[in-house]
Amino acid sequence: MEGVFFLSKTYDKIEDCLKSIRKVTDFVPKVAIVLGSGLGDYADGIEVVAEIDYSEIKGFPVSTVPGHAGKFIFGYVDSVPVVCMKGRVHYYEGYDISDVVLPTRLMHLLGAEILFLTNASGGINKSFSAGTLMMITDHISTFVPNPLIGPNLDKLGTRFPDMSHVYDEELQEKIRIAAKENDIDLREGVYIQFTGPSFESPAEIRMASVLGADAVGMSTVVEAIAANHCGMRICGVSCVCNLAAGISLTPLTHDEVQQAANDAAPKFKKLLTASVKKFV
Ligand code: HPA
Repeated sequence: MEGVFFLSKTYDKIEDCLKSIRKVTDFVPKVAIVLGSGLGDYADGIEVVAEIDYSEIKGFPVSTVPGHAGKFIFGYVDSVPVVCMKGRVHYYEGYDISDVVLPTRLMHLLGAEILFLTNASGGINKSFSAGTLMMITDHISTFVPNPLIGPNLDKLGTRFPDMSHVYDEELQEKIRIAAKENDIDLREGVYIQFTGPSFESPAEIRMASVLGADAVGMSTVVEAIAANHCGMRICGVSCVCNLAAGISLTPLTHDEVQQAANDAAPKFKKLLTASVKKFV
């Protein structure tokens, strides 16, 4: 009985958020874009149709991290209708994992078929440096709670979703072509999510490297799992902002990450726009 209550509470909450948004706009996005560190002002360059602060949406988890002020921005990238998340919710802020992925599910219910995830990460692959853009080809979720734990939301997807092709091959190819056409050096690799908020220890980074990870961060994977569950087509690009602990000789700081993300932002935005244009 308790489980049934939990199920309807989670789904009802998403539906309440949907109703709040639908009171403001009937815009139907095709692509949902999660803007990571440094990309916060991406939406300044798009044709904006509507904006909604997260705080105006009943029940929506509001981010507390500096630099992650939150709102949905609806508009067009070229002719492609998009919804941008300016600011995401991180597990380390203390939310239930179901709340962390609520925005992803909400964007699916708003009509988005494609999810473009972006983030800032630490580089594990020794050939990466600050400013490297890495397309995410797969992920490791083992060290964060699975957002699908709990009674299955049957209205969204199946109990045991396949995870063999989370990152859509066709979208990946379009991003590769967009990078090439714009002379942007784009690397590829596996992203591992840890909970944060502390950065990793050098031993944890060595472990992640042995496990096959190329970049590490505190977001994205749980969003990809939830999006895959509800049948969205997913792609992601990570901006490697620092070398991960133990690979870098200097202590890591949030400021350093923000600075590197800001420096890489122009090429990241260019890649994002060029890619989304190909998603028609
Ligand atoms: N570790 C985890 N998350 C990060 C890092 C890192 O080194 N850099 C940017 N986000």
